[in-house]
Amino acid sequence: MSFYVTTPIYYGNGEPHLGHAYSTMAADILARHMRQRGEDVFFLTGTDEHGEPIAQAAEKQGTTPQELVDRSAESFRDMVARVNATNDFFIRTTDRGHIERVQAVVDRVRENGFVYEGTYEGYYCPRCADFKTPTELLEGNRCPIHEIVLELETEQNWFFRLSTFQEPLEKLYAGHPDFVRPDFRRNEALAFIKGGLQDVSLSRPKLSWGVPLPWDPEQVMYVWFDALLNYYTALSYARPGEDLTERYWPCDVHVMAKDILKFHSVYWPAMLMAAELPLPKGLYVHGYLLMDDKKMSKSLGNVLDPFEVIDRFGSDALRFYCFREVSFGQDGSISTEGFETRYETELANDFGNLASRTLAMIDRYRDGLQPVAEPDPLLVADFEGIVDRVSGLLDEAQLSQSLEEIWVLVRRLNRYVEEAQPWVLAKDEADTGRLDQVLYSLAEGLRVLALLLHPWLPNSTLKLLEALGEQRSDLAVYGSRPGGTKLEKIEPLFPKL
Ligand code: MSP
Repeated sequence: MSFYVTTPIYYGNGEPHLGHAYSTMAADILARHMRQRGEDVFFLTGTDEHGEPIAQAAEKQGTTPQELVDRSAESFRDMVARVNATNDFFIRTTDRGHIERVQAVVDRVRENGFVYEGTYEGYYCPRCADFKTPTELLEGNRCPIHEIVLELETEQNWFFRLSTFQEPLEKLYAGHPDFVRPDFRRNEALAFIKGGLQDVSLSRPKLSWGVPLPWDPEQVMYVWFDALLNYYTALSYARPGEDLTERYWPCDVHVMAKDILKFHSVYWPAMLMAAELPLPKGLYVHGYLLMDDKKMSKSLGNVLDPFEVIDRFGSDALRFYCFREVSFGQDGSISTEGFETRYETELANDFGNLASRTLAMIDRYRDGLQPVAEPDPLLVADFEGIVDRVSGLLDEAQLSQSLEEIWVLVRRLNRYVEEAQPWVLAKDEADTGRLDQVLYSLAEGLRVLALLLHPWLPNSTLKLLEALGEQRSDLAVYGSRPGGTKLEKIEPLFPKL
Protein backbone atom coordinates (compact mmCIF):
# COMPACT_ATOMS: atom_id res chain seq x y z
CA MET A 1 0.00 0.00 0.00
CA SER A 2 1.08 3.55 -0.53
CA PHE A 3 1.50 6.11 2.22
CA TYR A 4 1.81 9.78 1.38
CA VAL A 5 2.73 12.25 4.15
CA THR A 6 3.38 15.98 3.96
CA THR A 7 4.55 18.90 6.10
CA PRO A 8 3.28 22.43 5.61
CA ILE A 9 5.35 24.27 3.06
CA TYR A 10 7.21 26.94 4.97
CA TYR A 11 7.17 30.62 4.10
CA GLY A 12 10.08 31.53 1.89
CA ASN A 13 10.74 34.83 3.64
CA GLY A 14 11.77 33.44 6.96
CA GLU A 15 14.58 31.48 8.48
CA PRO A 16 13.84 27.95 9.62
CA HIS A 17 13.39 27.55 13.36
CA LEU A 18 12.55 24.72 15.69
CA GLY A 19 8.80 25.04 14.99
CA HIS A 20 9.39 24.16 11.34
CA ALA A 21 11.83 21.45 12.33
CA TYR A 22 9.16 20.00 14.62
CA SER A 23 6.58 19.42 11.88
CA THR A 24 9.31 18.08 9.62
CA MET A 25 10.49 15.61 12.25
CA ALA A 26 6.91 14.50 12.95
CA ALA A 27 6.29 13.73 9.30
CA ASP A 28 9.64 11.98 9.09
CA ILE A 29 8.83 9.77 12.07
CA LEU A 30 5.65 8.69 10.31
CA ALA A 31 7.45 8.18 7.00
CA ARG A 32 10.20 6.07 8.54
CA HIS A 33 7.73 4.03 10.57
CA MET A 34 5.54 3.34 7.54
CA ARG A 35 8.56 2.23 5.53
CA GLN A 36 9.28 -0.22 8.34
CA ARG A 37 5.77 -1.53 7.88
CA GLY A 38 6.58 -2.17 4.23
CA GLU A 39 4.45 0.67 2.83
CA ASP A 40 5.35 2.46 -0.37
CA VAL A 41 6.06 5.87 1.19
CA PHE A 42 6.22 9.33 -0.35
CA PHE A 43 7.21 12.16 1.97
CA LEU A 44 6.91 15.76 0.81
CA THR A 45 8.12 19.03 2.28
CA GLY A 46 9.08 22.36 0.77
CA THR A 47 8.63 26.11 0.68
CA ASP A 48 5.74 28.47 0.06
CA GLU A 49 7.28 31.18 -2.08
CA HIS A 50 4.50 33.46 -3.27
CA GLY A 51 2.53 36.29 -1.70
CA GLU A 52 2.74 39.82 -0.52
CA PRO A 53 4.98 39.29 2.52
CA ILE A 54 7.65 37.81 0.30
CA ALA A 55 7.46 40.63 -2.22
CA GLN A 56 7.62 43.14 0.64
CA ALA A 57 10.52 41.43 2.37
CA ALA A 58 12.46 41.38 -0.89
CA GLU A 59 11.86 45.07 -1.42
CA LYS A 60 13.00 45.87 2.10
CA GLN A 61 16.18 43.90 1.59
CA GLY A 62 16.79 45.52 -1.79
CA THR A 63 16.61 42.21 -3.63
CA THR A 64 14.18 40.46 -5.96
CA PRO A 65 11.54 38.06 -4.67
CA GLN A 66 13.17 35.27 -6.65
CA GLU A 67 16.56 35.85 -5.07
CA LEU A 68 14.99 35.99 -1.66
CA VAL A 69 13.15 32.70 -2.04
CA ASP A 70 16.15 31.01 -3.61
CA ARG A 71 18.15 31.77 -0.49
CA SER A 72 15.39 30.83 1.85
CA ALA A 73 14.67 27.55 0.07
CA GLU A 74 18.34 26.66 0.61
CA SER A 75 18.07 27.29 4.35
CA PHE A 76 14.95 25.17 4.60
CA ARG A 77 16.49 22.37 2.57
CA ASP A 78 19.44 22.51 4.89
CA MET A 79 17.18 22.36 7.97
CA VAL A 80 15.37 19.34 6.55
CA ALA A 81 18.68 17.54 6.00
CA ARG A 82 20.05 18.48 9.41
CA VAL A 83 17.09 17.02 11.28
CA ASN A 84 17.75 13.88 9.24
CA ALA A 85 14.43 13.91 7.42
CA THR A 86 14.03 11.47 4.55
CA ASN A 87 11.79 13.51 2.27
CA ASP A 88 11.33 12.19 -1.25
CA PHE A 89 10.96 15.62 -2.77
CA PHE A 90 11.30 19.27 -1.82
CA ILE A 91 8.67 21.37 -3.53
CA ARG A 92 9.00 25.09 -4.18
CA THR A 93 5.86 26.88 -5.29
CA THR A 94 7.93 28.85 -7.80
CA ASP A 95 8.65 25.57 -9.64
CA ARG A 96 7.36 25.59 -13.22
CA GLY A 97 5.69 22.24 -12.70
CA HIS A 98 3.76 23.53 -9.70
CA ILE A 99 2.59 26.71 -11.41
CA GLU A 100 1.33 24.85 -14.47
CA ARG A 101 -0.61 22.30 -12.45
CA VAL A 102 -2.11 24.98 -10.20
CA GLN A 103 -3.38 26.78 -13.26
CA ALA A 104 -4.89 23.59 -14.63
CA VAL A 105 -6.70 22.86 -11.36
CA VAL A 106 -8.04 26.37 -10.94
CA ASP A 107 -9.27 26.33 -14.54
CA ARG A 108 -11.19 23.20 -13.70
CA VAL A 109 -12.68 24.80 -10.60
CA ARG A 110 -13.87 27.65 -12.79
CA GLU A 111 -15.26 25.34 -15.48
CA ASN A 112 -17.17 23.54 -12.76
CA GLY A 113 -18.90 26.81 -11.91
CA PHE A 114 -17.32 27.66 -8.57
CA VAL A 115 -15.64 30.94 -9.53
CA TYR A 116 -17.19 34.38 -10.05
CA GLU A 117 -16.03 37.96 -10.22
CA GLY A 118 -16.81 40.35 -7.41
CA THR A 119 -15.67 43.07 -5.09
CA TYR A 120 -14.01 42.22 -1.85
CA GLU A 121 -14.42 44.59 1.01
CA GLY A 122 -13.02 43.69 4.37
CA TYR A 123 -9.97 43.26 6.50
CA TYR A 124 -6.91 41.42 5.26
CA CYS A 125 -3.90 40.54 7.37
CA PRO A 126 -0.82 40.45 5.15
CA ARG A 127 1.12 38.54 7.81
CA CYS A 128 -1.49 35.73 7.96
CA ALA A 129 -2.31 36.12 4.27
CA ASP A 130 -5.85 35.74 5.54
CA PHE A 131 -9.12 37.63 5.07
CA LYS A 132 -10.61 38.19 8.50
CA THR A 133 -14.30 38.11 9.28
CA PRO A 134 -15.58 40.89 11.59
CA THR A 135 -16.09 38.38 14.41
CA GLU A 136 -12.47 37.27 14.26
CA LEU A 137 -11.04 40.77 14.70
CA LEU A 138 -9.79 42.12 18.01
CA GLU A 139 -10.93 45.53 19.17
CA GLY A 140 -9.72 48.30 16.90
CA ASN A 141 -9.82 46.02 13.84
CA ARG A 142 -6.67 44.23 14.88
CA CYS A 143 -5.49 40.83 13.67
CA PRO A 144 -6.24 38.22 16.37
CA ILE A 145 -2.85 36.59 15.80
CA HIS A 146 -0.46 39.43 15.01
CA GLU A 147 -2.39 42.12 16.83
CA ILE A 148 -1.55 44.64 14.10
CA VAL A 149 -4.19 47.12 12.95
CA LEU A 150 -5.73 46.02 9.66
CA GLU A 151 -6.91 48.40 6.94
CA LEU A 152 -10.31 48.06 5.35
CA GLU A 153 -9.54 46.94 1.81
CA THR A 154 -11.66 47.09 -1.27
CA GLU A 155 -10.57 45.24 -4.34
CA GLN A 156 -11.92 43.72 -7.49
CA ASN A 157 -11.17 40.04 -7.62
CA TRP A 158 -12.35 36.51 -8.33
CA PHE A 159 -14.20 34.58 -5.69
CA PHE A 160 -14.38 30.92 -4.84
CA ARG A 161 -17.86 29.67 -3.90
CA LEU A 162 -16.84 28.26 -0.56
CA SER A 163 -20.40 28.69 0.73
CA THR A 164 -21.60 25.98 -1.69
CA PHE A 165 -19.53 23.48 0.23
CA GLN A 166 -21.08 24.01 3.63
CA GLU A 167 -23.19 20.88 3.39
CA PRO A 168 -20.67 18.63 1.62
CA LEU A 169 -18.11 19.56 4.28
CA GLU A 170 -20.50 18.81 7.11
CA LYS A 171 -21.16 15.47 5.46
CA LEU A 172 -17.44 14.84 5.11
CA TYR A 173 -16.93 15.37 8.84
CA ALA A 174 -19.95 13.28 9.75
CA GLY A 175 -18.79 10.42 7.53
CA HIS A 176 -15.10 10.62 8.51
CA PRO A 177 -14.87 11.40 12.19
CA ASP A 178 -11.10 10.86 11.92
CA PHE A 179 -10.54 13.42 9.21
CA VAL A 180 -8.88 15.78 11.70
CA ARG A 181 -6.88 14.47 14.64
CA PRO A 182 -6.84 15.01 17.57
CA ASP A 183 -10.57 15.14 18.23
CA PHE A 184 -10.70 18.59 19.72
CA ARG A 185 -9.20 20.05 16.56
CA ARG A 186 -11.86 18.31 14.51
CA ASN A 187 -14.46 19.98 16.67
CA GLU A 188 -12.84 23.35 16.05
CA ALA A 189 -12.94 22.79 12.31
CA LEU A 190 -16.52 21.65 12.44
CA ALA A 191 -17.55 24.63 14.56
CA PHE A 192 -16.01 26.91 11.96
CA ILE A 193 -17.98 25.20 9.20
CA LYS A 194 -21.21 25.18 11.15
CA GLY A 195 -20.76 28.87 11.89
CA GLY A 196 -21.52 29.45 8.21
CA LEU A 197 -19.13 29.60 5.29
CA GLN A 198 -18.73 32.71 3.18
CA ASP A 199 -17.22 32.81 -0.26
CA VAL A 200 -13.53 33.68 -0.28
CA SER A 201 -11.25 35.54 -2.62
CA LEU A 202 -9.53 33.28 -5.03
CA SER A 203 -7.28 35.95 -6.44
CA ARG A 204 -5.72 39.28 -5.67
CA PRO A 205 -4.95 42.14 -8.02
CA LYS A 206 -1.58 41.69 -9.56
CA LEU A 207 0.37 44.02 -7.35
CA SER A 208 1.74 40.93 -5.84
CA TRP A 209 4.00 38.00 -6.53
CA GLY A 210 2.11 34.85 -7.42
CA VAL A 211 0.59 32.49 -9.96
CA PRO A 212 -1.35 34.41 -12.64
CA LEU A 213 -4.93 33.26 -13.18
CA PRO A 214 -5.06 31.57 -16.57
CA TRP A 215 -8.16 33.52 -17.69
CA ASP A 216 -7.19 36.85 -16.12
CA PRO A 217 -3.44 37.30 -15.87
CA GLU A 218 -3.98 40.70 -14.25
CA GLN A 219 -4.79 38.76 -11.09
CA VAL A 220 -2.65 36.33 -9.17
CA MET A 221 -3.99 33.43 -7.27
CA TYR A 222 -4.65 33.95 -3.56
CA VAL A 223 -1.51 32.51 -2.03
CA TRP A 224 -3.27 29.98 0.21
CA PHE A 225 -4.87 28.17 -2.72
CA ASP A 226 -1.58 28.22 -4.58
CA ALA A 227 0.15 26.85 -1.47
CA LEU A 228 -2.38 24.15 -0.56
CA LEU A 229 -2.24 22.75 -4.05
CA ASN A 230 1.44 21.91 -3.58
CA TYR A 231 0.44 18.61 -2.01
CA TYR A 232 -1.22 17.61 -5.24
CA THR A 233 0.98 19.27 -7.87
CA ALA A 234 4.26 17.86 -6.53
CA LEU A 235 3.31 14.35 -7.55
CA SER A 236 3.05 15.36 -11.19
CA TYR A 237 6.66 16.46 -11.57
CA ALA A 238 8.69 15.21 -8.59
CA ARG A 239 10.12 12.46 -10.77
CA PRO A 240 11.03 13.68 -14.24
CA GLY A 241 9.16 11.76 -16.91
CA GLU A 242 6.89 10.09 -14.36
CA ASP A 243 3.57 11.12 -12.88
CA LEU A 244 3.17 9.81 -9.34
CA THR A 245 -0.38 11.11 -8.84
CA GLU A 246 -2.08 7.77 -9.41
CA ARG A 247 0.36 6.06 -7.13
CA TYR A 248 0.10 8.38 -4.11
CA TRP A 249 -2.99 10.56 -4.36
CA PRO A 250 -5.05 10.96 -2.19
CA CYS A 251 -2.63 11.94 0.52
CA ASP A 252 -2.75 9.94 3.75
CA VAL A 253 -1.58 12.49 6.30
CA HIS A 254 -1.01 16.25 6.23
CA VAL A 255 1.03 17.25 9.30
CA MET A 256 0.73 20.85 10.55
CA ALA A 257 0.25 23.03 13.61
CA LYS A 258 -3.09 24.41 14.70
CA ASP A 259 -2.37 27.87 13.21
CA ILE A 260 -3.26 26.68 9.73
CA LEU A 261 -6.10 24.35 10.62
CA LYS A 262 -8.83 26.41 8.93
CA PHE A 263 -7.05 26.38 5.59
CA HIS A 264 -6.48 22.64 5.67
CA SER A 265 -9.74 21.54 7.21
CA VAL A 266 -12.11 23.82 5.30
CA TYR A 267 -10.62 25.56 2.26
CA TRP A 268 -8.53 22.62 1.12
CA PRO A 269 -11.21 19.90 0.99
CA ALA A 270 -13.65 22.39 -0.55
CA MET A 271 -11.13 23.28 -3.24
CA LEU A 272 -10.56 19.63 -4.04
CA MET A 273 -14.30 18.95 -4.18
CA ALA A 274 -14.66 21.86 -6.56
CA ALA A 275 -11.97 20.37 -8.78
CA GLU A 276 -13.52 16.90 -8.42
CA LEU A 277 -10.38 15.48 -6.91
CA PRO A 278 -10.20 12.85 -4.14
CA LEU A 279 -9.77 14.26 -0.63
CA PRO A 280 -6.85 13.58 1.69
CA LYS A 281 -7.50 10.93 4.30
CA GLY A 282 -6.57 12.96 7.32
CA LEU A 283 -4.84 15.83 9.07
CA TYR A 284 -2.51 15.45 12.05
CA VAL A 285 -2.63 18.74 13.89
CA HIS A 286 -0.04 19.46 16.53
CA GLY A 287 0.26 22.30 19.02
CA TYR A 288 2.92 24.94 19.43
CA LEU A 289 6.32 24.55 20.91
CA LEU A 290 6.51 27.31 23.47
CA MET A 291 9.44 29.02 25.11
CA ASP A 292 8.76 30.86 28.33
CA ASP A 293 5.10 30.00 27.68
CA LYS A 294 5.00 31.92 24.41
CA LYS A 295 4.83 30.55 20.88
CA MET A 296 8.28 30.47 19.41
CA SER A 297 8.33 32.84 16.55
CA LYS A 298 10.81 34.98 14.81
CA SER A 299 8.93 38.19 15.43
CA LEU A 300 8.90 37.51 19.17
CA GLY A 301 12.61 36.74 19.12
CA ASN A 302 12.26 33.67 21.35
CA VAL A 303 13.43 30.99 18.97
CA LEU A 304 15.57 28.11 19.99
CA ASP A 305 18.01 27.45 17.20
CA PRO A 306 17.62 23.84 16.10
CA PHE A 307 21.07 23.94 14.54
CA GLU A 308 22.75 24.83 17.81
CA VAL A 309 20.89 22.04 19.53
CA ILE A 310 21.87 19.58 16.82
CA ASP A 311 25.52 20.64 17.00
CA ARG A 312 25.54 20.03 20.70
CA PHE A 313 23.24 17.06 21.20
CA GLY A 314 22.87 15.53 17.73
CA SER A 315 19.72 15.32 15.63
CA ASP A 316 18.52 12.13 17.35
CA ALA A 317 18.41 13.95 20.67
CA LEU A 318 16.43 16.81 19.18
CA ARG A 319 13.94 14.44 17.57
CA PHE A 320 13.58 12.49 20.78
CA TYR A 321 13.26 15.48 23.06
CA CYS A 322 10.57 17.30 21.10
CA PHE A 323 8.21 14.33 20.99
CA ARG A 324 8.99 13.20 24.51
CA GLU A 325 8.67 16.54 26.24
CA VAL A 326 5.59 17.84 24.44
CA SER A 327 2.56 15.66 23.96
CA PHE A 328 1.92 15.70 20.21
CA GLY A 329 -1.29 17.63 19.62
CA GLN A 330 -0.92 19.86 22.68
CA ASP A 331 1.08 23.03 23.19
CA GLY A 332 4.12 22.46 25.33
CA SER A 333 7.08 24.32 26.73
CA ILE A 334 10.60 23.42 25.83
CA SER A 335 13.89 24.69 27.20
CA THR A 336 17.61 24.06 27.01
CA GLU A 337 17.59 22.78 30.59
CA GLY A 338 14.85 20.35 29.56
CA PHE A 339 17.01 19.09 26.70
CA GLU A 340 19.93 18.51 28.99
CA THR A 341 17.92 16.65 31.58
CA ARG A 342 16.23 14.31 29.12
CA TYR A 343 19.47 13.77 27.28
CA GLU A 344 21.25 12.69 30.46
CA THR A 345 18.56 10.68 32.17
CA GLU A 346 16.76 9.09 29.27
CA LEU A 347 19.09 8.94 26.30
CA ALA A 348 22.48 8.59 27.97
CA ASN A 349 21.35 6.55 31.01
CA ASP A 350 18.14 4.66 30.24
CA PHE A 351 18.85 3.79 26.64
CA GLY A 352 22.54 4.38 25.86
CA ASN A 353 23.78 2.79 29.03
CA LEU A 354 21.46 -0.20 28.70
CA ALA A 355 22.88 -0.83 25.24
CA SER A 356 26.55 -0.47 26.23
CA ARG A 357 26.12 -2.54 29.35
CA THR A 358 24.28 -5.39 27.67
CA LEU A 359 26.79 -5.62 24.84
CA ALA A 360 29.73 -5.35 27.23
CA MET A 361 28.39 -8.22 29.36
CA ILE A 362 27.83 -10.43 26.34
CA ASP A 363 31.35 -9.63 25.20
CA ARG A 364 32.77 -10.44 28.61
CA TYR A 365 30.78 -13.51 29.58
CA ARG A 366 30.09 -15.05 26.17
CA ASP A 367 32.86 -13.76 23.89
CA GLY A 368 30.36 -11.57 22.06
CA LEU A 369 28.04 -14.38 20.99
CA GLN A 370 24.38 -13.90 21.78
CA PRO A 371 23.57 -17.15 23.61
CA VAL A 372 21.12 -19.61 22.11
CA ALA A 373 18.35 -19.72 24.71
CA GLU A 374 14.65 -19.44 25.24
CA PRO A 375 13.50 -15.87 25.86
CA ASP A 376 12.60 -15.15 29.46
CA PRO A 377 8.80 -15.58 29.71
CA LEU A 378 8.64 -12.45 31.88
CA LEU A 379 9.93 -10.31 29.02
CA VAL A 380 7.92 -12.17 26.41
CA ALA A 381 4.84 -11.12 28.34
CA ASP A 382 5.95 -7.50 28.62
CA PHE A 383 6.82 -7.20 24.91
CA GLU A 384 3.63 -8.94 23.80
CA GLY A 385 1.75 -6.82 21.25
CA ILE A 386 4.16 -3.87 21.37
CA VAL A 387 4.51 -3.60 17.58
CA ASP A 388 0.74 -3.42 17.14
CA ARG A 389 0.37 -0.96 19.99
CA VAL A 390 2.98 1.41 18.58
CA SER A 391 1.61 1.11 15.05
CA GLY A 392 -1.94 1.65 16.27
CA LEU A 393 -0.99 4.77 18.19
CA LEU A 394 0.90 6.24 15.25
CA ASP A 395 -2.14 5.59 13.06
CA GLU A 396 -4.01 7.80 15.49
CA ALA A 397 -1.50 10.65 15.44
CA GLN A 398 -0.25 9.75 18.92
CA LEU A 399 3.44 10.31 18.34
CA SER A 400 4.28 10.92 21.98
CA GLN A 401 2.13 8.17 23.41
CA SER A 402 3.70 5.63 21.08
CA LEU A 403 7.16 6.74 22.16
CA GLU A 404 6.09 6.39 25.78
CA GLU A 405 4.93 2.80 25.13
CA ILE A 406 8.40 1.99 23.84
CA TRP A 407 10.07 3.79 26.70
CA VAL A 408 8.17 1.74 29.25
CA LEU A 409 10.03 -1.25 27.82
CA VAL A 410 13.38 0.55 27.88
CA ARG A 411 12.82 1.05 31.59
CA ARG A 412 11.62 -2.53 31.91
CA LEU A 413 14.88 -3.86 30.49
CA ASN A 414 16.85 -1.68 32.89
CA ARG A 415 14.92 -3.14 35.80
CA TYR A 416 15.47 -6.61 34.37
CA VAL A 417 19.23 -6.12 34.47
CA GLU A 418 19.04 -5.06 38.11
CA GLU A 419 16.77 -7.95 39.05
CA ALA A 420 18.59 -10.67 37.13
CA GLN A 421 22.09 -9.48 38.15
CA PRO A 422 24.03 -11.18 35.36
CA TRP A 423 27.33 -10.31 37.11
CA VAL A 424 26.28 -12.53 40.05
CA LEU A 425 25.11 -15.34 37.76
CA ALA A 426 28.48 -15.20 35.99
CA LYS A 427 30.24 -16.23 39.18
CA ASP A 428 28.57 -19.60 39.47
CA GLU A 429 28.86 -22.45 36.94
CA ALA A 430 25.47 -23.72 38.06
CA ASP A 431 23.87 -20.54 36.70
CA THR A 432 25.19 -20.90 33.15
CA GLY A 433 21.80 -21.72 31.67
CA ARG A 434 20.12 -18.85 33.46
CA LEU A 435 22.86 -16.42 32.39
CA ASP A 436 22.41 -17.55 28.79
CA GLN A 437 18.72 -16.84 29.05
CA VAL A 438 19.20 -13.42 30.65
CA LEU A 439 21.78 -12.31 28.10
CA TYR A 440 19.78 -13.63 25.17
CA SER A 441 16.67 -11.91 26.48
CA LEU A 442 18.41 -8.57 26.96
CA ALA A 443 20.00 -8.56 23.51
CA GLU A 444 16.69 -9.55 21.94
CA GLY A 445 14.95 -6.75 23.83
CA LEU A 446 17.51 -4.24 22.62
CA ARG A 447 17.02 -5.39 19.06
CA VAL A 448 13.24 -5.06 19.15
CA LEU A 449 13.50 -1.66 20.85
CA ALA A 450 16.12 -0.36 18.40
CA LEU A 451 13.82 -1.23 15.51
CA LEU A 452 10.83 0.39 17.19
CA LEU A 453 12.80 3.50 18.14
CA HIS A 454 14.37 3.88 14.74
CA PRO A 455 11.93 6.58 13.50
CA TRP A 456 12.77 8.81 16.49
CA LEU A 457 16.46 7.94 16.79
CA PRO A 458 17.59 7.00 13.29
CA ASN A 459 21.34 7.49 13.77
CA SER A 460 21.90 5.85 17.11
CA THR A 461 19.58 2.92 16.44
CA LEU A 462 21.44 2.18 13.22
CA LYS A 463 24.69 2.02 15.18
CA LEU A 464 23.07 -0.24 17.72
CA LEU A 465 21.47 -2.50 15.12
CA GLU A 466 24.84 -2.88 13.45
CA ALA A 467 26.42 -3.85 16.77
CA LEU A 468 23.59 -6.35 17.24
CA GLY A 469 24.36 -7.88 13.86
CA GLU A 470 20.87 -7.01 12.70
CA GLN A 471 20.33 -6.64 8.95
CA ARG A 472 16.62 -6.06 8.91
CA SER A 473 15.01 -2.67 9.28
CA ASP A 474 11.34 -3.66 9.56
CA LEU A 475 9.69 -4.24 12.91
CA ALA A 476 10.28 -7.48 14.80
CA VAL A 477 8.40 -9.58 17.32
CA TYR A 478 10.19 -10.27 20.60
CA GLY A 479 11.89 -13.64 20.60
CA SER A 480 11.73 -14.09 16.84
CA ARG A 481 15.50 -14.11 16.31
CA PRO A 482 17.34 -17.16 17.57
CA GLY A 483 20.59 -16.64 19.46
CA GLY A 484 24.01 -17.35 18.02
CA THR A 485 24.65 -13.99 16.39
CA LYS A 486 28.02 -12.32 16.88
CA LEU A 487 27.58 -8.97 18.64
CA GLU A 488 29.98 -6.06 18.98
CA LYS A 489 30.66 -3.75 21.88
CA ILE A 490 29.82 -0.09 21.26
CA GLU A 491 30.94 3.36 22.27
CA PRO A 492 28.32 5.25 24.30
CA LEU A 493 25.44 6.10 21.95
CA PHE A 494 24.81 9.36 23.81
CA PRO A 495 28.09 10.50 25.34
CA LYS A 496 27.76 12.45 28.58
CA LEU A 497 28.20 16.17 27.99
N1 MSP B 1 3.19 28.72 4.25
C1 MSP B 1 2.22 28.41 5.22
C2 MSP B 1 1.79 26.96 5.12
C3 MSP B 1 1.24 26.54 3.80
S1 MSP B 1 0.88 24.85 3.76
C4 MSP B 1 0.01 24.63 2.35
C5 MSP B 1 2.78 28.64 6.61
N2 MSP B 1 4.11 28.65 6.71
S2 MSP B 1 4.93 28.86 8.06
O1 MSP B 1 6.30 29.00 7.66
O2 MSP B 1 4.39 29.90 8.85
O3 MSP B 1 4.83 27.52 8.82
C6 MSP B 1 3.77 27.26 9.69
C7 MSP B 1 3.99 25.89 10.26
O4 MSP B 1 5.28 25.80 10.87
C8 MSP B 1 3.04 25.51 11.37
O5 MSP B 1 1.80 25.03 10.92
C9 MSP B 1 3.84 24.43 12.04
O6 MSP B 1 3.79 23.29 11.25
C10 MSP B 1 5.23 25.01 12.02
N3 MSP B 1 5.48 25.86 13.18
C11 MSP B 1 5.89 27.16 13.17
N4 MSP B 1 6.07 27.58 14.44
C12 MSP B 1 5.80 26.59 15.30
C13 MSP B 1 5.86 26.43 16.70
N5 MSP B 1 6.25 27.38 17.52
N6 MSP B 1 5.51 25.22 17.20
C14 MSP B 1 5.12 24.19 16.41
N7 MSP B 1 5.06 24.31 15.10
C15 MSP B 1 5.37 25.50 14.50
O7 MSP B 1 2.01 28.76 7.54
